[in-house]
Amino acid sequence: MQFDPHHLAALSAVLRRGSFEAAAGELSVTPSAISLRIKVPEHRVGTVPTRRGPHCSVTRSVRRAARAGLSLQPRPGTEIRKYQDPEIPMFAKEALNYTAIPLPDRADLSDDEMCSAAAAFHEQMRRRHTVRDYTDRPVPREVIETCLRTAGTAPSGANHQPWHFVAISNPAMKQRVRDEAEEEERRFYAGGAGDEWIKALEPIGTDADKPHLTTAPWLIVVFAQRWGTFEDGARFKNYYVPESVNIATGFLLAALHHAGLCTLTHTPNPMKFLNEALGRPASEKPTMIIAVGHPAEDATIPSVAKLKKPLEQISTFLE
Ligand SMILES: Cc1cc2nc3c(=O)[nH]c(=O)nc-3n(C[C@H](O)[C@H](O)[C@H](O)COP(=O)(O)O)c2cc1C
Repeated sequence: MQFDPHHLAALSAVLRRGSFEAAAGELSVTPSAISLRIKVPEHRVGTVPTRRGPHCSVTRSVRRAARAGLSLQPRPGTEIRKYQDPEIPMFAKEALNYTAIPLPDRADLSDDEMCSAAAAFHEQMRRRHTVRDYTDRPVPREVIETCLRTAGTAPSGANHQPWHFVAISNPAMKQRVRDEAEEEERRFYAGGAGDEWIKALEPIGTDADKPHLTTAPWLIVVFAQRWGTFEDGARFKNYYVPESVNIATGFLLAALHHAGLCTLTHTPNPMKFLNEALGRPASEKPTMIIAVGHPAEDATIPSVAKLKKPLEQISTFLE
């Protein structure tokens, strides 16, 4: 029996978490009573030919079929294998083809579950505060690595991921960053910033002393990359660099907070000294130093930090 479009609905359910690639050929989908043949590739039944040879992804309809309990059976000569992330490095030119793969993970929450999840996350995030006084209690490198991985999942212009994070626990290097940052800060507070800026900082209570840069166990310096390089050394331009890097930085701050750590987003002005100190190329722009660690016993926050604009002020709904 040829594939019948009416079965698309029935086919809407298995292999939710997996996807398959099949060599060009025919697949048989075999529920108990009927046998459906799906020719591969064929757009009509939802297959997507890739641009890499004769392979094609078996997409939504077939995955859903599997979820509905239909069994997928390859015709003789049809190779089916579990889809795996390509092993080709990200910036090998050959990897940059359009290939659709099924959405790998879905949340599938009810409306009530979504409301609870949103509220729980808000409850957690509203407890985050910038902390300027740290203990020297160490933080395992593994925690920092995992949080950086989270940052690396951020969306970015054309998926170029134009960021680089330098994580520093080396005391001598932290001291160097502190010395150079404080030098910039002294210039900043001595008039470089201008009266209006200094006035705006008054309620925050900051000055040119930055002891957190040496007491916090980790400093993470965020760099924005104006361009990237393919494996063969050819350059490519990055797009929406500040937007992408700032989203990744937000992910990082949320991940660190979620891991029970405190942070300070520190922005000495200017920050160019960080390129040389940390050996990063001139094509990268340092955007922030994030101090990471545990709060000191007597850590305080400025009271104004609790004043967050209400929803009505930060949003408009058009329904
Ligand atoms: C881009 C940016 C730069 C910042 N630079 C500094 C800084 O150089 N020094 C500092 O003490 N705090 C800095 N902060 C922290 C802010 O002062 C802080 O986020 C704000 O007062 C709100 O407090 P909260 O983070 O506790 O909610 C910076 C924050 C951002 C987002």
